[in-house]
Amino acid sequence: MRRKLVAGNWKMNGNLAANSALLNELVAALGHAAPCDVAVCVPAPYLAQCQHQLADTVVSWGGQDLSAHEAGAYTGEVSATMLADFGSHYAVVGHSERRAMHGESNALVAQKTLRALRSGLIPIICVGETLAEREAGQTTEVVGEQLKAVLAVLEAADLTRLVVAYEPVWAIGTGKTATPAMAQEVHATLRALLAGQDAVAAAGTRILYGGSMKPDNARELMAMPDIDGGLIGGAALKSADFLAIIAASGAQ
Ligand code: 13P
Repeated sequence: MRRKLVAGNWKMNGNLAANSALLNELVAALGHAAPCDVAVCVPAPYLAQCQHQLADTVVSWGGQDLSAHEAGAYTGEVSATMLADFGSHYAVVGHSERRAMHGESNALVAQKTLRALRSGLIPIICVGETLAEREAGQTTEVVGEQLKAVLAVLEAADLTRLVVAYEPVWAIGTGKTATPAMAQEVHATLRALLAGQDAVAAAGTRILYGGSMKPDNARELMAMPDIDGGLIGGAALKSADFLAIIAASGAQ
């Protein structure tokens, strides 16, 4: 049985005061026992704030990206060890916004994934097709290529320590959600690819859905057999919505 994970991706949102309120509300509401694993992936400047406010709570934290390099003359980049230094558990890798706006290739995403794993972070590896790719019937091929590029550089043992997130690009921030059946179909494809590497490990790998997951659709999405939680954008910025999604993960 895979324990569900609900992770917020704050993207480039927040400030000290708003974050403080949001984190306090989450911690107060969740107490010592959440129905699933809970995390927030925050802009790097706020990792210290998370470490301060979330230490010894049920909420973990992480980054939204990391450098493919270990250290050195890479102005503006944040390394895996820096994320780990601030207690991060997770790092989002290969988000579609980075692929689209920062030209991240499948090969670069694979290198970043390795960097995260070797620093003890759990990478949340994002894959997803655009609307044009879905309409052209290329969804399986596109997400398959994205995941295979990562699997090609991993060792079998790594499979137990990564999270995959299926985020159809056309569903991100648009209010359009994949139906549970559409998402499940892709999730099953992704799990089959993981199983091609190691069937036992793949049975334990969490595959999250992301793309306009909200309190009113979270329950039916997470009820699907291969949907093991959510990667939440907009709804993670409001404590009531994020908490409702967390609650939905336990209502299966
Ligand atoms: P929204 O939940 O705002 O659609 O964002 C999803 C996402 O991109 C999470 O990484």
